[in-house]
Amino acid sequence: MNRTLAVETSKKIGEKVVLFGWINTIRDHGKVSFYDLRDASGIVQTVTREGFDVSSEDAVKIVGTVKERPKNLVNPNIETGKVEIEIESCEIISKAHELPFPVDGDGLDIDEALRLKYRYLDLRRPRLQKNIKMRHEMISFMRQFLTERGFLEIETPILTKATPEGARDFLVPARLQKGKFYALPQSPQQYKQLLMVAGFERYFQIARCFRDEDPRADRAYGEFSQLDIEMAFVQQEDILKLTEELFKEITEIVFGKKVLQFPFPRISHEEAMKKYGADKFDLREKKDPNILAFAFVIDFPLFEKTADQPISPSHHPFTAPKDEDIGLLDTDPIKVRSWQHDLVCNGLEVGGGSIRITDAEIQRKIFRILGYRDSEIEEKFGHLLSAFTYGVPPHGGIAPGIERLLMAAIGEENTREVTAFPMTSSGQTAVMDAPSFVDDKSLKELGIKVK
Ligand code: AMO
Repeated sequence: MNRTLAVETSKKIGEKVVLFGWINTIRDHGKVSFYDLRDASGIVQTVTREGFDVSSEDAVKIVGTVKERPKNLVNPNIETGKVEIEIESCEIISKAHELPFPVDGDGLDIDEALRLKYRYLDLRRPRLQKNIKMRHEMISFMRQFLTERGFLEIETPILTKATPEGARDFLVPARLQKGKFYALPQSPQQYKQLLMVAGFERYFQIARCFRDEDPRADRAYGEFSQLDIEMAFVQQEDILKLTEELFKEITEIVFGKKVLQFPFPRISHEEAMKKYGADKFDLREKKDPNILAFAFVIDFPLFEKTADQPISPSHHPFTAPKDEDIGLLDTDPIKVRSWQHDLVCNGLEVGGGSIRITDAEIQRKIFRILGYRDSEIEEKFGHLLSAFTYGVPPHGGIAPGIERLLMAAIGEENTREVTAFPMTSSGQTAVMDAPSFVDDKSLKELGIKVK
C-alpha cells in the first residue's frame, strides 16, 4: 500500500491508509489515546483504544482507517481537523530520546547556542518549518520570474580573489601554491560584470556571500545569500522597474500580503537623511504586518567618511559617478553623487546595487582616490580594467538580500530565524563544531605554521 501524507487524509474518509512521520503529541485519556502524527505536509490526529509504547518525536509507521470526526470534535485550527485515523497498527521505526528542548513552541526563549547545537531538532518546530518553506517558495518564484524574462542563472567561483564590499575577507590557503591564498567572495560583483562583457546581458544567481564583519540582528556573521542580478544596455530606471515588479509579485503571490505603494517611491539620499535621519526607514504609519512598504533610495554620494577611513565607497568601488559630477572627482570627491540604488522595506535595507563604471580611466581614478597605488590597482583589479578595453556594454544591477527580505515579509527579528544552519554570533557553525583545529599533517601540506 502506498504512503498517504497527513494532509491527504481529509480526502480519504473511509479508506485504509499508511502514514509515516513523527509523534508530535500524545494525549492519554485512559480508555483512548490520541497521537498527533506529523510529517512534512502537516499534522493529523490518530486514535487508539489499545495504546502503544510511543513517546514524542518517535519516528513511526501507522496503518489505520480515516474516520470523519463528530461535528463537535472538529478542530478548525488544522487542515485535517475534520478527520482522525483509527489506528490498526503502530510500528516504531526509530525511538527518540527525550529532546534537549521542546519543539512545539516558537523556541525564542531557549538558549540560542543550544538551539543551534541541535539545529536539526530546532528545525522541527512549525515556525522554522514555515520559514524555510517560505524561503524556498520565494527563491523558486525569483528563478521562475527571471527565467521568463530571459535571465540566465550562472554560478560563479567561491574560491576566488578578494572583491571589496567593505568587510574582511575569509582566506583559504592554496596547497598547490604554498604561501598563496584564495579569498571567498564578499559578493559575485566582479564576475557578474565580467559576464556582461562576455555578452550574457541578463544574469542572476542565488549567490552565497562571505563576509567577516561584526554581526547584528539583520547582519549574519560569515555567510548569507543574495539574489544577484546584472543587466547590460540598461539605465538605472530599468533595474528599478524590474526589481519593483518582482517584489510586488513576491509580496502578493508568495507572501499573500500587499505593497504599500506601487510603483515604489524613489527617494533621494539627501531627502531620506533630512526626513528620516537615515538611508533606511519604515514608511508604514503603524507596524501593519500585512503591508510591505518598499522604497528606493537613489542619488547617494559616491563616497563617505567612516570611523576608520577618511574616504571609502558608499556602495563599492565599481559604482558609477553621475556624469555631471565627474569633474568633482579631481576637486571635491566627497561631493560626487552616484548611480547607487538601495531597496528598503519596513525599515530594513533589503537590497543594494548600481550602474557600474565601464570606463577604465574613471575606474582607475576611483581606486586612486580610495588610496590604492597604481601597482596595487593592477595586481588587484587589472583583469577588470583589461576586460573594459574589449567592448564593454553599459551595465548595472542589484542584489536583494534573501534573509532580510524574509525577515521583513515574515516579521522575524534575526537572519538566523530564516536560515537552516546559521552561525552563532561568535562565528561557531550550527551542529558541526567549526572552526576547529586541524592536524599537523594538513598544516604541513599547506605550508602553514600556527603561532
Ligand atoms: P551590498 O553589500 O549592499 O551589495 O549587499 C546587498 C544586500 O545584501 C544584504 N546583506 C546581508 N544580509 C545578511 N547578512 C549580511 N551580513 C549582509 N550583508 C549584506 C543586504 C544588502 O542590501 N555587490 C553588491 C550588489 C550590487 O552592486 O549589485 C552588494 O553585495 O540586504
